[in-house]
Amino acid sequence: MLAGQRGARRNAAPALFGKGDPPMTYTFTIAIDGPAGAGKGTLARRLADHYRLNLLDTGLTYRAVAHKLLELGLPLDNVSAAETAAHQVDLAKLDRAVLSAHAVGEAASKVAVIPTVRRILVEKQRDFAKAPPGAVLDGRDIGTVVCPDADIKLYVTASAEVRARRRLAEIESIGGSADFAEILADIQRRDERDMGRADSPLKPAADAHLLDTSEMAIEAAFLAAMAIIDDALAKRNKA
Ligand code: C5P
Repeated sequence: MLAGQRGARRNAAPALFGKGDPPMTYTFTIAIDGPAGAGKGTLARRLADHYRLNLLDTGLTYRAVAHKLLELGLPLDNVSAAETAAHQVDLAKLDRAVLSAHAVGEAASKVAVIPTVRRILVEKQRDFAKAPPGAVLDGRDIGTVVCPDADIKLYVTASAEVRARRRLAEIESIGGSADFAEILADIQRRDERDMGRADSPLKPAADAHLLDTSEMAIEAAFLAAMAIIDDALAKRNKA
């Protein structure tokens, strides 16, 4: 599998924050949340590369559970099968090429409403975040539930229309075709499910920095995020 296809990436090199090597127990966590298609995945990758942190796309963990149930031909509300699949999720083996299919994303948002599935996956995500030198995690509940003590919390959003337009451009760039109205309806349905569920709904943490990328290219979002992070690091290194 190509490194870029892996949903979880561990960085062997220690991150250098401030003067000298950080102690081996030093971790730094960047939590990125937001709705589907807001650009958090790209931003997370850029930040993990820049700060040399581990990287976990937590959406892939829910997708892996959904994919397993689809493969077995089981309904997505089969709680015990979903729990078993969640226990079997191996963060080192999340295959983006298989899991990124549109139908898997839809199915993931259905298994993501099962509280026990969330608990099993959140535990794995927290373990990942704890390993030095720290990590960038992106998802829906990172700043609120998975890593409430994250050093930096970003909430990345964009209007549903902009997100649908980006999704369409992405599909067309790889030679596919799709209907804009259908994509928009899908995005709105997914937002509703993610924001409306009882357990860990998508919402900005009280201390999250908001980044609206509707009118902002990803490079500008990256620079804005870097400014926020560098500022926090400077304060931390002074303390
Ligand atoms: O981010 P991605 O589109 O891959 O996520 C798929 C689905 O997984 C989301 O729509 C959401 O329902 C669920 N998810 C979640 N919590 C996370 C990450 C993803 O509930 N931390």
